Amino acid sequence: MNLDNKIVLVTGGGSGIGLETANYISQKGAKVIICGRNEAKLAEAAEAFNLHSIKCDVSIESEVLSLFEKIKKDFGTLDVLINNAGFGDYSNLLDQSLESMLSVFETNVFGAMLVGREAAKIFCEKKAGSIVNISSTAGLKGFAGGTAYAASKFALRGMTECWRAELRPFNVRVILINPSEVQTPFFKSRKAEINPTKLLPGHIAHSIVAALEMDDVGFIPELTVFATNPKQV
Ligand SMILES: NC(=O)c1ccc[n+]([C@@H]2O[C@H](COP(=O)([O-])OP(=O)(O)OC[C@H]3O[C@@H](n4cnc5c(N)ncnc54)[C@H](OP(=O)(O)O)[C@@H]3O)[C@@H](O)[C@H]2O)c1
Repeated sequence: MNLDNKIVLVTGGGSGIGLETANYISQKGAKVIICGRNEAKLAEAAEAFNLHSIKCDVSIESEVLSLFEKIKKDFGTLDVLINNAGFGDYSNLLDQSLESMLSVFETNVFGAMLVGREAAKIFCEKKAGSIVNISSTAGLKGFAGGTAYAASKFALRGMTECWRAELRPFNVRVILINPSEVQTPFFKSRKAEINPTKLLPGHIAHSIVAALEMDDVGFIPELTVFATNPKQV
């Protein structure tokens, strides 16, 4: 896919991996819309990087429907969805509350489904489009304290496989990206120290764009990205 002039939506595009990806794709000539819950943060990011911002909490169905109404009205169509909005909440099983697990699922799973569904309606009708779901290596392997987050990313991986099976006949590519630790606000909220051997958001943006730019005749179903993380000698 040539990204020039394409219409691209990046959920959770106001910071971290989403913002870096939005900026990179915009530099390729695409019109990029970012959404998130914090309107001021979005507007600032949009102004700094020449993006378009629309406030939307992906976990609220009415906001997702109105996001797509605005996109259709202002841009006419959509070519690519980067389903990136997400967050973690970390408790051991003994302390895990249902409330916190539900709130992680409401964004990482149910929100991803709502946005994916609305994008898929457009893509199936025009028989073209790409969905990139941003999962995590936590969606491949669990870890202590990961009940809510890892389960949400395993669920996203499962949904991705279902969407791929359903949408491939309509010429819609569904791609899963599994970053390991990336130094974003999300990462910094868990680990105070910056580790120079860890991945940066630009590395994930590059992986996403590499997968999208592959000729439309094929697609890369899943990409897992680790830091090389050499041993210090
Ligand atoms: N950083 C890592 O180590 C890492 C590793 C693997 C996977 N990931 C995944 O990468 C994605 C991006 O995370 P990041 O590391 O770039 O962290 P980030 O900077 O915190 O980005 C997450 C973005 O999602 C938005 N968001 C959260 N809930 C939302 C909702 N309900 N509706 C709309 N937007 C929402 C946040 O903005 P608002 O708060 O303003 O809404 C924020 O801009 C996430 O799905 C995360 O699980 C991250």
